[in-house]
Amino acid sequence: MSIGKLNGKDVRSIAWEDGRLILLDQTRLPEETVLEEQQTVEQVRESIRQLKVRGAPAIGVAGAYGLVVAMRDSTDLDRAAFLGELRKNAALLESSRPTAVNLAWALRRVIRAADQSNVTSGTELLEVVRSTAEEIHAEDIELCRRIGEHGLPLIQEGMGILTHCNAGRLATSEYGTATAPMYLAHRKGISFRVYSDESRPLLQGSRLTAWELQQAGIEVWTITDNMAAAMMQQGLVDMVIVGTDRVAANGDVANKIGTLGVAILAGYFDIPFYVACPASTVDLDTPTGEEIEIEERDPEEVTHFGLRRTAPEGVRVRNPAFDVTPHHLVTAIITDRGMIEPPYEENLRRTFGNGW
Ligand code: MRU
Repeated sequence: MSIGKLNGKDVRSIAWEDGRLILLDQTRLPEETVLEEQQTVEQVRESIRQLKVRGAPAIGVAGAYGLVVAMRDSTDLDRAAFLGELRKNAALLESSRPTAVNLAWALRRVIRAADQSNVTSGTELLEVVRSTAEEIHAEDIELCRRIGEHGLPLIQEGMGILTHCNAGRLATSEYGTATAPMYLAHRKGISFRVYSDESRPLLQGSRLTAWELQQAGIEVWTITDNMAAAMMQQGLVDMVIVGTDRVAANGDVANKIGTLGVAILAGYFDIPFYVACPASTVDLDTPTGEEIEIEERDPEEVTHFGLRRTAPEGVRVRNPAFDVTPHHLVTAIITDRGMIEPPYEENLRRTFGNGW
């Protein structure tokens, strides 16, 4: 299931083709479909930082392939030197964005695979790095498909579903997380409407979610973030499904800035608020949402709309990219291992405590 076509070929957020890492530049959507080959690890880091590739699972997969790109010319190194370089490059990639745990998780997984392998040459180590990255990529598709299966029963004929930001195919390798139940329901012939919050300041909802759902033939309505309350008040929204960048051990969830407001609204209007994510987003080492590092981005994203300045020169600006929704506002977390309900502390540990 590709997102679209370019010159007759399927387009995916991330492709690994004949040893080449190709990313769909999401900053150019929906106007242009541009694929960009990643030549160096610095370029991969920059693509993650600039949100050319974005969404928690997708940056994990891109980071893992970034290590292949980083190490492919280091096959003449001995084991110790190779592992040292690998760690250095992983740290470089990890410094691109702090909130989504999937990036650190994927990088650590590649390092662990190389560490635990008993091969000695750089060529063999590169092979371990490459096959682990491919494994993470393939797994991401399967995990999202399972999220879809577990979330599918929630979607009933004629429902209105609100989502925030983009937790869709573009944010993963396929299916998405929040959108996975939607794609599966659509495939089954169930009709429903999706309200896609615009998601200021970078408009992932209107530029990306609306675009990919429209491509798939799903009924989607773009609304600005401040319209969500009115849609709920009018009885148009039967449930909310969003993605997440990190789930803390107590069930608090970090997601795109504005998600907290949506959760509070859903609570007020008594609308179920679901969060969808794969196991790689659950971080049992972070006790609560308070300990999640929230990325603060360039003020220009707030003071400008496109290229046009929309705030006075010199004004003070805050631009946190994410917020934390406390677990008591979350109805359930839809994961690849099933639906996790409160009490989260206990149920998350029971389901994910045995590691990967
Ligand atoms: O800043 P972004 O666009 O990377 O933010 C993405 C989100 O907040 C998504 O909802 C989250 O990463 C889950 S993606 C399946």
